[in-house]
Amino acid sequence: EAAGLAGTPPMGWNSWNAHSCAVTEADIRAAADALVETGLRDAGYEYVVVDDCWMADDTDDQGRLRADPADFPSGIAALADYVHDSGLRFGLYSSAGTRTCQGYPATLGRERLHAEQFADWGVDFLKYDNCGDHRNRDAVSRYGAMGDALAAVDRDIVYSICEWGQSAPWQWGRNVGGNCWRVTDDAVAKWQTSGDEFGLGVADIIDRVAGLDIAAAQAPGGWSDPDMLQVGNGPESGQSQHEPTDVERPLSNAENRTHFAFWCLLGAPLFVGTDLADCSADVLDILTNEDLLQIDQDPLGLQGTPDRRDGDAEVWSKRLRDGAAVALWNRGERATDISTHVVDTSVPTAGERYAVRDCWTGEAWETPGELSATVEPRDTAVFRVTPA
Ligand code: GLA
Repeated sequence: EAAGLAGTPPMGWNSWNAHSCAVTEADIRAAADALVETGLRDAGYEYVVVDDCWMADDTDDQGRLRADPADFPSGIAALADYVHDSGLRFGLYSSAGTRTCQGYPATLGRERLHAEQFADWGVDFLKYDNCGDHRNRDAVSRYGAMGDALAAVDRDIVYSICEWGQSAPWQWGRNVGGNCWRVTDDAVAKWQTSGDEFGLGVADIIDRVAGLDIAAAQAPGGWSDPDMLQVGNGPESGQSQHEPTDVERPLSNAENRTHFAFWCLLGAPLFVGTDLADCSADVLDILTNEDLLQIDQDPLGLQGTPDRRDGDAEVWSKRLRDGAAVALWNRGERATDISTHVVDTSVPTAGERYAVRDCWTGEAWETPGELSATVEPRDTAVFRVTPA
């Protein structure tokens, strides 16, 4: 039944990075409204996902999950209706353990019961986390049980496996019915983290994905997930674990561009994680960039790979149905010229000339093969390259 789901990487908005455990049904309605008003829905962001903390402290006496009566007084079915009436799809969260990561009741051992609840409520997407007691069961058994339960209900539910890459979910995620699987720890709204700081920054995640070397695992229907977008976020965002310090700041425009460019180049699920009530025009422009979204949603479904990792200059590319995308990333702190040639990238090199378009500026030109740009610190130039 799930075979036709997530033919391209799922796109939407998720509450966690913006609202953390303080999420309420009013936040979800506001997010649905904002997705429509900002044009994000029409750009393809269709799933509105309630992350952790929607549950009451206890299940009912049958073991069914209940919505928190104070924060979700209308209940989940009514909230799903609201989201559906906005022309969007509705997502919800639980965990493949006895508790969620924030300590609420979760699903292990009650997969059939909860899958039926989700289907009855009108859930279209389930994010399934890895917290709580695992009762000595391995990940394949725990995630497999939920995959079976979702396949048994009479509703298409995209299955998002959030196992953090601990037991190589790219090897079994598809077999248990997963439509995407997290491959790293949580992304935070930073360029890099250090020492025992919580989470991974944008550059850390790109490095981690490069090191995993798992591009071959991804194909339509099942996607590697480097976590949700922190584009537009900073130390003030809901998910950060402490009061911001003086040296902390939001991700810069260049960092936001690099973050978004890489997630699109990887063919990642795209879940906006910023508070749309408080979102700059620059951030909206990045999130709705048509060329980047087409690169993410390309029907071949490939994961972009590194062609050259050379100090501060990196070249990555991704074969597309028509040509390829080539990214020139400046990791450093000074503007740098970065050059490559189509033969050293994923561009199909049958022709003698290539049409190039800069995805950020829209500028277009032709080249016999050379590709180059002056790239600002921490920024990424992205070209669409097609044999002319
Ligand atoms: C884990 C997940 C996050 C988020 C939180 C919620 O850390 O990886 O994406 O869902 O739990 O508690």
